[in-house]
Amino acid sequence: MSAHGEAQPMISRRSGGLQGRAEVPGDKSISHRALILGALSVGETRVRGLLEGQDVLDSAKAMAAFGAQLERKSDGVWSVQGVGVGGFAEPDRIIDCGNSGTGVRLIMGAMATTAISATFTGDASLNKRPMGRISEPLALFGARAYGRRGGRLPMTIVGAADPVPVRYAVPMPSAQVKSAVLLAGLNAPGETVVIEKEATRDHTERMLTGFGAAISTEQTAEGRVITLRGQPELLAQDIEVPRDPSSAAFPVAAALVVEGSDVLVPNIGLNPTRAGLFQTLREMGADLVFENAREEGGEPVADLRARFSALRGIEVPPERAASMIDEFPILSVVAAFAEGTTVMRGVKELRVKESDRIDAMARGLEACGVRVEEDEDTLIVHGMGADGVPGGGTCATHLDHRIAMSFLCLGMASRAPVTIDDAGAIATSFPVFVPLMRGLGAQLEEVAP
Ligand code: S3P
Repeated sequence: MSAHGEAQPMISRRSGGLQGRAEVPGDKSISHRALILGALSVGETRVRGLLEGQDVLDSAKAMAAFGAQLERKSDGVWSVQGVGVGGFAEPDRIIDCGNSGTGVRLIMGAMATTAISATFTGDASLNKRPMGRISEPLALFGARAYGRRGGRLPMTIVGAADPVPVRYAVPMPSAQVKSAVLLAGLNAPGETVVIEKEATRDHTERMLTGFGAAISTEQTAEGRVITLRGQPELLAQDIEVPRDPSSAAFPVAAALVVEGSDVLVPNIGLNPTRAGLFQTLREMGADLVFENAREEGGEPVADLRARFSALRGIEVPPERAASMIDEFPILSVVAAFAEGTTVMRGVKELRVKESDRIDAMARGLEACGVRVEEDEDTLIVHGMGADGVPGGGTCATHLDHRIAMSFLCLGMASRAPVTIDDAGAIATSFPVFVPLMRGLGAQLEEVAP
């Protein structure tokens, strides 16, 4: 939706080859963490390349409500004057995290072991998403949570006055839950231990190390065991945010399916806990190369070059799901243009994202003439070949940025145009998506609601 609350429908028409450079914005996960860890540090943290999407701007506002001072300088660098671990003040207003599950969940963790209360809310999408997965481990520290039925927002967290450290095995593959527990552990005495069966994105662990916390990770028979020593003094940092592989996924995928395309997507973060899509695309036969591979700020980075490719369906190994969890919507679009069937198993977490992404993709693909199968934990797409996707449908986006961008990419290569009911949510993670894709040659047009 737009800032005025109206839906912004958009139509995507088949385009000629996409050409050029796609300068995608900063990483959303790292941007949230930079602001939150900056706010919990002593001194001035400077963040270059912050994603200025609505999700991250909502986290910036929240950090100000907890007492940090934030300023965007004229050169685009963000300055965060932190209050130190345990230094959060009680907000005098409700914290509205908009569309952002990452924002609300990490901030709940960060405040839960300080003797303050805060009430959190969000938009219609966020207020449907499960927060019990956060309030349950926070209760082990001594925090109390009062939310709506089923652990939904709005929810008030009463922070623990005398927090105790916890040992917690995360029951689902979720970096947000892991991170909430680690951030809560910062202000608990002693050692907080988090165990995850499958590795999820590890930005919190990497960045806590960078800010000076004592944190270690060990691979054991139980999984990854992460141990954090509580009550450190976090020291302000200069952070360079790498560009978001989850945003890069869209111009890369569009280039692979639009005939005659050749697109360069420079400076993309390729942390192995995030890069599963690119490996999958290569297994499907994608002409996707990593140029100029290097390391920046402790993260692997490369320029991605994607060219139109003849693709074949594959079975995505379920153990890879966590490293590409946000990329299944766009993968299902690429799969529609492949020869043969693409099978995505072990993906039930997609049902609790900004929308039920299995359902949203299945319905939209069907509306565009693509045959799909689904069950609780699986999405199967029957590919129709490079020139075989009919298109012509109107796809419901459910306030979900990745669903909106995925169907716009579908329309760039399908026979008939594809309409989405609302492009507004794209601004949460990729505010320049439409002009950037138009700059490569995509034909995207607003239509009257
Ligand atoms: C994120 C973790 C993932 C991902 C989300 C960002 C993070 O969510 O889908 O977009 O920054 O920690 P889950 O933890 O729910 O898997």
